[in-house]
Amino acid sequence: MSALFSPFTLKDVTLRNRIAIPPMCQYSAVDGLTNEWHWDHYAALARGGASLVIVEATAVSPEGRITPACTGLWSDQQTEGMARIAASIKRYGAVPGIQIAHAGRKASANRPWDGDDHIADTDPRGWQTLAPSALAFGHHLPKVPKAMTLDDIERVKGDFVAAAVRARDAGFQWLELHFAHGYLAQSFFSAHSNQRNDQYGGDFSGRARFLLETLAAVRQVWPENLPLTARFGVIEYDGRDEQTLAESIDLVRLMRQGGLDLLNVSVNFTIAETSIPWGPAFLAPIAERVRREAELPVASSWGIDTPQLGEAVIAGEQMDLVMVGRRLLGNPHWPLQAAQALEIERPTWVLPAPYAHWLERYQPN
Ligand code: FNR
Repeated sequence: MSALFSPFTLKDVTLRNRIAIPPMCQYSAVDGLTNEWHWDHYAALARGGASLVIVEATAVSPEGRITPACTGLWSDQQTEGMARIAASIKRYGAVPGIQIAHAGRKASANRPWDGDDHIADTDPRGWQTLAPSALAFGHHLPKVPKAMTLDDIERVKGDFVAAAVRARDAGFQWLELHFAHGYLAQSFFSAHSNQRNDQYGGDFSGRARFLLETLAAVRQVWPENLPLTARFGVIEYDGRDEQTLAESIDLVRLMRQGGLDLLNVSVNFTIAETSIPWGPAFLAPIAERVRREAELPVASSWGIDTPQLGEAVIAGEQMDLVMVGRRLLGNPHWPLQAAQALEIERPTWVLPAPYAHWLERYQPN
């Protein structure tokens, strides 16, 4: 019995196996609207046999986009294209999820293949970024953000709620709040980027407030029977890791009490100068610690891209789901190959018949 190919139930949602596809920006939208690229891309991912497909970081407001080509859910016009994506993911037997996001001080950037840097201040394609404090990320992202007023904070929380409602109405069954990677929410929690001295900064509860209030507001509108999850960086790799991990786990406990159903464990990426120990499944022991100490189901990614590693982290109870990104981008049928590598006779998940009839018995030389 394979752990990686066992089903997983969270709330009223059952995943056909433990292989999920994490959000991966396509940088191919215009005015936040999805198009043929996204519709075909997500259908192809869902056909490959993964159990959960999480649609890319989708901005809750125009200024929350990483680049001008990011998807959005800030207007009703954007719901229709997203509904198409949710329907096709479902049609192919996977659960449709979506990550809603605000990029904070990392917004207003060029696409990765166009430089990955901030759009020049003189370029009309760019915009004023927002953050807890007027501190730039630096390096390739030198733009100094506007320190958010209390009104800005209320408005952005409301934007998260409105985007969650649109995600629900579009038919998504799994919501992920992007609280990671140095974007707006993560930058509220990190003392590197939050130097406010009002109720949204300072001590632990001040820096945690934006995340907990956003979660609570979204919980009000997201259906109780569907998973409400977040992606959150619990470690910066900046030399003060034990302290960051301990306070992050404290926050995850509060999120669990606030109605969070699962955490997608990730890295902070709040500052540029870090020493991240890149390597196969390097986050697995961290994910395991969060799972055990916060008593919450977890998922994680980063280099978990061989069938044996996937099987090991699930069987070893380090995480409940593996999020396989680049490997599945390159080959959406990786789950089939993983099942064959693990010598599973009849995988519990089902490929569509026109593929399954041929591929389930086909062993490439
Ligand atoms: C990403 N990643 C990412 N993460 C996230 O939280 N929201 C996003 O929209 C994106 N976008 C994105 C685009 C592309 C093209 C890549 C390659 C990555 C990070 C991603 O979800 C994942 O964590 C990493 O790719 C690491 O997992 P793998 O690729 O090692 O399995």
